[in-house]
Amino acid sequence: MAIIAPSLLAANFLQLQDECDMLNKSQADWFHLDVMDGRFVPNISYGPMLIEFFRKTTTKICDVHLMIEEPGNFVEIFKKAGADILTVHLEACPHLHRNIQQIKSLGMQAGVALNPHTPVSLLKDILGDIDLVCLMSVNPGFGGQSFIPNTLEKIKQLRAMISEKSLNVKIEIDGGVTEENAQQIIQAGADVLVAGSTVFKSPDPIATIARLKAM
Ligand code: DX5
Ligand code: ZN
Repeated sequence: MAIIAPSLLAANFLQLQDECDMLNKSQADWFHLDVMDGRFVPNISYGPMLIEFFRKTTTKICDVHLMIEEPGNFVEIFKKAGADILTVHLEACPHLHRNIQQIKSLGMQAGVALNPHTPVSLLKDILGDIDLVCLMSVNPGFGGQSFIPNTLEKIKQLRAMISEKSLNVKIEIDGGVTEENAQQIIQAGADVLVAGSTVFKSPDPIATIARLKAM
């Protein structure tokens, strides 16, 4: 059974308490929280202040996806805000190993995200140090885009790398996940499905989450 991580980016921000209450009641496992800086990605979302509020509304795992440059400057701030999992982009981190150590030394789980064009082979020498790989299945920056089919091949390759070394690393798929493609993504070897639009634009988000969970 996959871990379901609805992305709050697609929520109605004028009714955040209701959206959080809905997720808390649902079978969602994690809150996926997308932080964008307008530099690493061409969009700005929200920062640690909002994550502090999300933290107070839920006991679910707060999975924070940093789409920002120089994420090392913000590791402590996001720990204080309440992140359980902190994911940084490989493309934003010339000193990725140091950043992973920073995250783990503060007691959070560490994730590495890859853009669609970044090969999974680049993870070879960091895979044993991390808890999660977030494979972007759209170009990061916006919700509501279509799933890039080549991601399925990347999931299979990464799954083989993880199995070969008997590691305990989760594969998270982020972007364009729908009720139509979720099964295929899980079959390819994914552990975590991030879903923004599919959950929040649904007429019955709780039922949609339940269906994703049952796949
Ligand atoms: C995109 C974000 C995603 C996004 C997914 O940069 O990382 O988490 O919210 O949204 P959907 O599920 O609508 O593609
Ligand atoms: Zn994300």
